[in-house]
Amino acid sequence: MTLQTIDIPDSIKDLPHAREAAGLIDLANDRIETFMLANDRVTENFVPCDFHLLDQSLTWITQNNLLTGRRFCEFGSGFGVATLLAAVQQMDSVGIEIDSDLVDQSIDLCHAVGSTESVDLTANFYCGSFIPRNTHGILELAKDMEHVDTHQGDVYQEIGLALEDFDLFFAFPWPGEHHFFEAVFQAGAATNALLLTYRGRDGMHLIRKT
Ligand SMILES: C[S@@+](CC[C@H](N)C(=O)[O-])C[C@H]1O[C@@H](n2cnc3c(N)ncnc32)[C@H](O)[C@@H]1O
Repeated sequence: MTLQTIDIPDSIKDLPHAREAAGLIDLANDRIETFMLANDRVTENFVPCDFHLLDQSLTWITQNNLLTGRRFCEFGSGFGVATLLAAVQQMDSVGIEIDSDLVDQSIDLCHAVGSTESVDLTANFYCGSFIPRNTHGILELAKDMEHVDTHQGDVYQEIGLALEDFDLFFAFPWPGEHHFFEAVFQAGAATNALLLTYRGRDGMHLIRKT
């Protein structure tokens, strides 16, 4: 099994946003700012990604028929925005987040978007770890990850789906930690599944398991 890089062109920055996606991003950014200001103890591992670029990447992936199916999973879903943007793009979306306050915020955001944008989103959020417990060697590898929590159990049984059931994964790893997310993806995802990661200044990075 190898990981094949798929180049995402810079021109995606010209892609328009659907009205619902633009509304979701504005609402989410306002709520994240308020939440961060009000909470001294926001998880130190939470930093939101560039949601506009993410929405454009999802649009580009869909328009270029790169998906093998419509199941989406976000590793470490934070405020749930990527999971909800994928749901706006008609994907069956799952967000996995270790911090219960952030899971609560994601569920509230989902309800708020559903009512303000009048959209019915297929998105579910689970509190726990995205690291599959039964994968040989993965917990050992995780020990070197400063910003990935390794203490809680995974939630795949609760979701009722395994890693191999998803078609597209998204994660925003901290600098230097993307190899761990790729290792989880390589170990558990189905052949032809995609992993999209946000790499800060380096933008979006897309790989396929072949
Ligand atoms: C850099 S933030 C990215 C949040 C979101 N994906 C985004 O792009 O806005 C990483 C998130 O991963 C969560 N996290 C860390 N370890 C985790 C684990 N083992 N399972 C699930 N979530 C985890 C953190 O709590 C944090 O919210």
